[in-house]
Amino acid sequence: MGKGLTTLLLSCVMFSLCASSFAQTCKNYTFSSSNRVYSSCTDLPVLSSFLHWSYDQSTNKVEIAYRHTGTSTSNWVAWAINPTGTGMVGAQALVAYQNSSSVIHAYTSPVSGYGTTLAEGSLSFGVSNLSATFVNSEMTIFATLTLDSGMTTVNQVWQEGPLSGGSPSTHDTSSSSENMKSVGTLNFLDDQE
Ligand SMILES: *[C@@H]1O[C@H](CO)[C@@H](O)[C@H](O)[C@H]1NC(C)=O
Ligand SMILES: *[C@@H]1O[C@H](CO)[C@@H](O)[C@H](O)[C@H]1NC(C)=O
Ligand SMILES: *[C@@H]1O[C@H](CO)[C@@H](O)[C@H](O)[C@H]1NC(C)=O
Repeated sequence: MGKGLTTLLLSCVMFSLCASSFAQTCKNYTFSSSNRVYSSCTDLPVLSSFLHWSYDQSTNKVEIAYRHTGTSTSNWVAWAINPTGTGMVGAQALVAYQNSSSVIHAYTSPVSGYGTTLAEGSLSFGVSNLSATFVNSEMTIFATLTLDSGMTTVNQVWQEGPLSGGSPSTHDTSSSSENMKSVGTLNFLDDQE
């Protein structure tokens, strides 16, 4: 086989590998557990994250799954709604990490300031069915939120940071980092199928 052809074939293989990883959107994703079916999803713009949800307008309950790919058990991950602001302060967070018992621990944490250690506490809205899994470098937080009626467009924040001594420690705060860009709005009525 000529060198030119080999290079061409190799480029094709590389291109399709790259193309398929880029084409991977939340829509392609199927949860391994058959009762995890969501009507909507969004590819979050930074931190390799995806949010899947089903919003029930009659009860204002939203079932969510926050997937964070390419992470590890030395990290914590979090997804939050901020009902009072746009960034981290005021965020009502769902947090997950592998704790010192080697169990994926999922809990809620209201963030009152930049010095947070993500201590456990209850949120300003109801949270039930909270759990998390870690499979193939992917941490997923599952929960059912009971929101106030009319709380259909919200500010969301998502995050990843290191563990230190088995507890969440500060995420990257350099201004160019993805960790400083992981905010946005979310309309639970969008993308309903
Ligand atoms: C994912 O879905 C998109 C369309 O939404 C499709 O173009 C792409 O080929 C799919 N990728 C994989 C890896 O299945
Ligand atoms: C680890 O998390 C599990 C599940 O949330 C919890 O039951 C257990 O007490 C935690 N272990 C420690 C050492 O905190
Ligand atoms: C827990 O989740 C199931 C389905 O995943 C849902 O049917 C049920 O209503 C949820 N429970 C609560 C208390 O929200």
